[in-house]
Amino acid sequence: MGIAPVIAQTRSLYKEQQADIERFEVAIAQYLAGEIEEDVFRVIRLNNGVYGQRQGGTNQMVRIKLPAGTITPEQLELMAKLSTEYSRGWGHITTRQNIQFHFVELTKMPALLREIAEVGLTSREACGDTVRNVMACHLAGACPHEKLDVTPWAEATFRHFVRNPLGQRLPRKFKVNFSGCSTDCGQAMFNDFGVVATSRTNEDGTVEP
Ligand code: HEM
Ligand code: SF4
Repeated sequence: MGIAPVIAQTRSLYKEQQADIERFEVAIAQYLAGEIEEDVFRVIRLNNGVYGQRQGGTNQMVRIKLPAGTITPEQLELMAKLSTEYSRGWGHITTRQNIQFHFVELTKMPALLREIAEVGLTSREACGDTVRNVMACHLAGACPHEKLDVTPWAEATFRHFVRNPLGQRLPRKFKVNFSGCSTDCGQAMFNDFGVVATSRTNEDGTVEP
């Protein structure tokens, strides 16, 4: 008997993201109606990349992941628009290559999440006890010293772990970093899991990254 071939399916992050946002929208309505406990809502909120703020009211902070620290002009323009429409006209670029906006009204959060989904970004698992944004060294793809461009590896790691059932309730947050050479600007050596690109010389003298 032959073995049936396995056809690799490309995961549609966009579809998964739309389903997430719908679920989050329902949870927000239930929370504001007092139907779910603060503790239950907190886990849902954090796994969707949203932190509570303690100034009272329902203003929240949203952290948007930039896997491998990459952002396109279209995405950057959207960040500017979001900062004025939902926040205070500015945001923070963080140490882990995220962009975060404070003072976003909780009820407007699903609309913001839909806007970032449209340009291929997500805040999913940017907070909470999850696999956080996967970083690459800041010059990845453009550095004269790199052994190879680590960007595709960092992006693949992000895609593998985001919404992965294994990563939803970890004992604590988990951080993955990549560097293109041993200078390690990407700080792979002091994160939870780090990859540093290297190369080897083959018998025929060719160098393989
Ligand atoms: C007012 C207090 C603090 C604020 C507002 C704050 C804020 C932040 C922010 C916004 C990030 C980046 C998050 C991301 O992009 O995922 C971060 C990362 C981090 N924070 Fe804090 N933090 C505070 C206190 C602390 C303290 C007290 C420690 C440790 C003793 C700490 C340790 C870290 C570490 C290790 C990282 C990750 C850095 C990296 O991977 O590059 N933070 N913090
Ligand atoms: S770690 Fe190496 S490849 Fe990456 S930016 Fe630094 S020097 Fe360049």
